[in-house]
Amino acid sequence: MNAIEIRNLTKHFGAKQAVNGLTMTVPQGAIYGFIGENGSGKSTTEKLICGLIPKSGGEIKLWGKDHRDQEVRSQIGVLIEAPGCFPNYTVWNNMKLQAANLGLKNENAEIRRVLRLVRMDGAASNKYKNCSLGMKQRIGIAFALLGNPQLLVLDEPINGLDADGMRIMREILTDLSHCGTTVLISSHILGELEKIATHYGIIRGGKMLREMTAEELNADCPTYVALKTDDTEKARAILERAFGRADIDEQTGEIRVYHASAEDTAKYLFGNFGIAVSEIRTAKISLEEYYIDLMKEGKE
Ligand SMILES: Nc1ncnc2c1ncn2[C@@H]1O[C@H](COP(=O)(O)OP(=O)(O)O)[C@@H](O)[C@H]1O
Ligand SMILES: [Mg+2]
Repeated sequence: MNAIEIRNLTKHFGAKQAVNGLTMTVPQGAIYGFIGENGSGKSTTEKLICGLIPKSGGEIKLWGKDHRDQEVRSQIGVLIEAPGCFPNYTVWNNMKLQAANLGLKNENAEIRRVLRLVRMDGAASNKYKNCSLGMKQRIGIAFALLGNPQLLVLDEPINGLDADGMRIMREILTDLSHCGTTVLISSHILGELEKIATHYGIIRGGKMLREMTAEELNADCPTYVALKTDDTEKARAILERAFGRADIDEQTGEIRVYHASAEDTAKYLFGNFGIAVSEIRTAKISLEEYYIDLMKEGKE
């Protein structure tokens, strides 16, 4: 069952086409990393899914039903902009107000449940204004989680977080996903996204450029040997003849060999050509590199 299925979605603001025939499929239980340049239509798509703005055309289905269906809408938790919190109120009292707005039953138990989920149970009596950015982001997620929605839509929730804040956020989202919640998350921080996402969608100009699972990304991101010598161009040519594809990474000055082991490349260079290798490691193409390459491809 797919949590989200979008066909031919369009949204224009006056003459501006923000979403332009978008297709998207998010399986139930996925952590779906939604990626694209600024202005590519991520936030607009998320708002459309949540019914915060009306679409111009196309179809959005959540669990097979129209996304405007009342029952379906009650299953969405959303954090798109910072939650409207009162700075002088405590975290607990802000949560109480939100729970009252939603008309939740058993609100104290529900607030305790979500604060525990976002690792904020020890900070309920803090004033909102004294919370760190990481805590505020987690309060936003706690707001979105009230009522136990099956789909969580998060727009750039890890921007500006420090390493510890990112780690906690990763743990929270992974926990939620293990409990069956589907998470749609947009982010620019691809290195973080890569640690948790099970699926990806890459959007450009309001259209889906590529959708894939983490396994498919993994298969598309080869491992390679990265090495340095004092004659880079000569060594690269030799390695390419011997082992197939070998590139020079312009940023690091390393040679990348894609189909050989570190041991074989170093032995071959030194044994047959007397070229010494000064540094060598094995690595893997990251989501970030994959994405940058994909963006270049489209522009050529
Ligand atoms: N309310 C709006 N009025 C006019 N243009 C908008 C509005 N919201 C978004 N846009 C435009 O739509 C495009 C997509 O924006 P957005 O969905 O925010 O992109 P992203 O979240 O990927 O950065 C951008 O060109 C943006 O300027
Ligand atoms: Mg955005």
